Amino acid sequence: MPPTGSILIVDDERSMRELLRIALTRAGHQVTVAESPAAAKLELDARDFDVVITDLKMPTGSGLDVLDGVKAARPHTQVVVVTAFATPETAIAAMKRGAYDYLTKPFKIDEIGVVVERALEKRGLLRDNLELRAELEGRFRLERMVGKSPAMQRLFELLRKVAPAKTSILLEGESGTGKEMVARALHHLSPRASGPFVAVNCGAIPEALLESELFGHVRGAFTGAIADRPGLFSAASTGTLLLDEVGELPGQMQVKLLRVLQERKVKKVGGTVEEEVDVRVVAATNRDLEAEVERGAFRQDLYYRLNVIELHLPPLRARREDVPLLVDHFLRKHAAALGRAIAGIDADAMAALCDYDYPGNVRELENLIERAVTLESGDRVSRASLPELKPRRPSEPPAASNELPPEGVDLDRLVAELERALIVKALERTRGVRKDAAKLLGVSFRSLRYRLAKLGIAPIDADSDAETDDKPGS
Ligand SMILES: Nc1ncnc2c1ncn2[C@@H]1O[C@H](COP(=O)(O)OP(=O)(O)OP(=O)(O)O)[C@@H](O)[C@H]1O
Ligand SMILES: [Mg+2]
Repeated sequence: MPPTGSILIVDDERSMRELLRIALTRAGHQVTVAESPAAAKLELDARDFDVVITDLKMPTGSGLDVLDGVKAARPHTQVVVVTAFATPETAIAAMKRGAYDYLTKPFKIDEIGVVVERALEKRGLLRDNLELRAELEGRFRLERMVGKSPAMQRLFELLRKVAPAKTSILLEGESGTGKEMVARALHHLSPRASGPFVAVNCGAIPEALLESELFGHVRGAFTGAIADRPGLFSAASTGTLLLDEVGELPGQMQVKLLRVLQERKVKKVGGTVEEEVDVRVVAATNRDLEAEVERGAFRQDLYYRLNVIELHLPPLRARREDVPLLVDHFLRKHAAALGRAIAGIDADAMAALCDYDYPGNVRELENLIERAVTLESGDRVSRASLPELKPRRPSEPPAASNELPPEGVDLDRLVAELERALIVKALERTRGVRKDAAKLLGVSFRSLRYRLAKLGIAPIDADSDAETDDKPGS
């Protein structure tokens, strides 16, 4: 079923108005007519139209004024300009001022039908896009993090809850899942936000220096200690201290850290006095700390002390719904940073990104996007600007058999997987041209678009997509 919508026809010539009204009504659209720019304005003030078709030269005003009025008040309404006196200049002027397309009289009724359909597609894409943007701004964002997957939504909720307390928090997650970002968010959402945020990588400091780095030292404590020096616990006073890669702490330091956490006091290396510290400790690890405890590599008492609240960051491959959102987020971030005008990403590029496993998690995705924005010479990220991305589970035969194993199946998941695999293949074969992919799959363009969105493969800014897909001769 081709898309239908609400259409306003503006033409001073009655026969033309009627012709269009009959043809478009027959095609299933809701049609309103106006015989002058002024009458059109009344209609436009009263309600929203998907598409406006306006004559260019009317005795009571110009179609360009109608166009300007629509673009100012309803920027997502698509305008098609019709003219009998087409010169390249008027057509270009109309397009420059934001018209979707123009038609030259006389035209065939089929022609206008096709143009209206395409304009409606574009209108629909813009609407989806707007909704996505609106969502991005609100619900799906916490501090500088984005995420719409249920796992991330739960995490955001939890973060808001635990941020205000002073309780120690343990963040677990693979490399690049956003542990440091979460630690920063915890800091910014807490009453300590005006204090310092200090991060220390426990795995990167030589063992001999760790104690002095964390707790400070007094003059003469060891060779080279020429003056008293505060440690990172003091530096983080009234703020938050992130102990990153806490699993790397040597046994000796684990004992000392435990004491500090229990007593909330630190003693400088070589010093005698203990000083109170007011610090919230957030620890992070990409190891399974509980397993480390079991095999005796990490102290159990310290584990319990750090692990008052445990937050787990799922790997990106376990929350693929977040990929399109993150792609959009990073596109904008890096396009702005690099001063590039990037309008969006092609459907096949997005499909490849959605189908990848990300051993390096969000960091890897961000690097891919930054690289693509740098390499891209056009105004959209194309598949060619991304490196080879090995799709996950090389086309595992979609459980197409009609066997039902004794333990049962997850029907929705199986069907969704099959659907995703075939859609990705079709998009790859058609190099992202969705209209052709839809044909290959025997579904309408609209239905494919819906499925892409549902599976989270939807391109964010499909703005020019209608053109790439549908422009005759491209
Ligand atoms: N949910 C998110 N939204 C936006 N950006 C994110 C998100 N998660 C991670 N990032 C980005 O991904 C990169 C990696 O995040 P971060 O440094 O917090 O990961 P990490 O878990 O600390 O990694 P590692 O274990 O390697 O230290 C950062 O550049 C961060 O900006
Ligand atoms: Mg980190």
